[in-house]
Amino acid sequence: MQTVVNSTKSQELIDLEHKYGAHNYHPLPVVLAKGEGVLVWDVEGREYYDFLSAYSAVNQGHCHPKITGALKEQADTLTLTSRAFHNDVLGKYEEYVTKLFGYDKILPMNTGVEGGETALKLCRKWAYKVKGVPENKAKILFAENNFWGRTLAAVSSSTDPTAFDDYGPYLPGFEIVKYNDLDALATALEDPNVAGFMVEPIQGEAGVMVPDEGYLTKAYEMCKAKNVLFIADEVQTGISRTGKLFCCQHENIKPDILILGKALSGGVFPVSAALADDEVMMTIRPGEHGSTFGGNPLACKVAMAALEVAVDEDLAGNAERLGKIFRAEMSKLIDETELVTLVRGKGLLNAVVINDTEDSDTAWRICLALAENGLLAKPTHGNIIRFAPPLVMTEEQLMDCVAIIRKTIIEFVQ
Ligand SMILES: Cc1ncc(COP(=O)(O)O)c(C=O)c1O
Repeated sequence: MQTVVNSTKSQELIDLEHKYGAHNYHPLPVVLAKGEGVLVWDVEGREYYDFLSAYSAVNQGHCHPKITGALKEQADTLTLTSRAFHNDVLGKYEEYVTKLFGYDKILPMNTGVEGGETALKLCRKWAYKVKGVPENKAKILFAENNFWGRTLAAVSSSTDPTAFDDYGPYLPGFEIVKYNDLDALATALEDPNVAGFMVEPIQGEAGVMVPDEGYLTKAYEMCKAKNVLFIADEVQTGISRTGKLFCCQHENIKPDILILGKALSGGVFPVSAALADDEVMMTIRPGEHGSTFGGNPLACKVAMAALEVAVDEDLAGNAERLGKIFRAEMSKLIDETELVTLVRGKGLLNAVVINDTEDSDTAWRICLALAENGLLAKPTHGNIIRFAPPLVMTEEQLMDCVAIIRKTIIEFVQ
């Protein structure tokens, strides 16, 4: 059995972070030094399967040679021009990405939360310029237990006290509706000043909450009927993670605004985007929104390579196929042990629910035991473990991982 916590080199590096870094994260005590495909290695050279993929940013696998190759080549050519000038990559990237996702235009940004901010600003502009909402009255609906990042707008729409406590005063114009509840949405949509509904097609951070089949389609139709923009936050579910290029494709809907991030760059560095058609996108004019780094040539080259990998290697198909096997294998544990009560997910975004309370540390302790056995996963709550490996995994590797998870859970003493 591997010993994760007790090694001196790892401990020294953990201590260094603890002393000089803000304590805004609580990582597993593993210090990673190298990654390739579905595997990572710690500073002592121990090997692990990565079952988090940097919160679904590394869908294409660690250090995919096509993506890092694009990065290296562009890094020696031109990295940043700002948008004060044109660059010779941006237009080609914009053409590629809009054709791939089926939108008129893209607005490139960097982090996922900036993609969300961009979507909300587009939505408000559209409300005033097109829909005709009275000045400063636009309202945007969010689903309960959403997570879309850490800016003040994101925490203002959060229902998680650890995300929002002590960060007030909060941004007005946001309203929460229950997730997966069409009646709640219908009531909220009665207000004529509602401009948009922003929703994750599967709530990742909330614990991989998969809504009922048809929920997204119906919600989309209800928004259309009220001239409200349907905004899909696909920062975590996008780029093949759930078995389609983006998750809303499972229900054949095209969101009015599609937000992408994370795996848009294969986890190589922050690249995000908001995609929309002209009616929405053309409401923002020069100088009204932007970012120094958004649309930089390095990001554009990396993102194009990352998307090409997703398409060429049919990562969506692989996620769909392996996801079914994974859920079937994990579901066996429901009968075999008291510890597992529920398995849910789509593609390779899955969660195993543990028989304990939300504030227990059981899921955390199982993740420590998994690390000891060579697999890295992270709880989303005290009783939920998310399993989201890179999508380049083979069936043989998956079955190896299934064996590790089974052994760990069956041997786990609560
Ligand atoms: C659904 C969703 N949206 C947005 C974000 C924010 O992305 P970032 O951390 O890159 O700002 C996240 C991050 O986990 C997310 O899961």
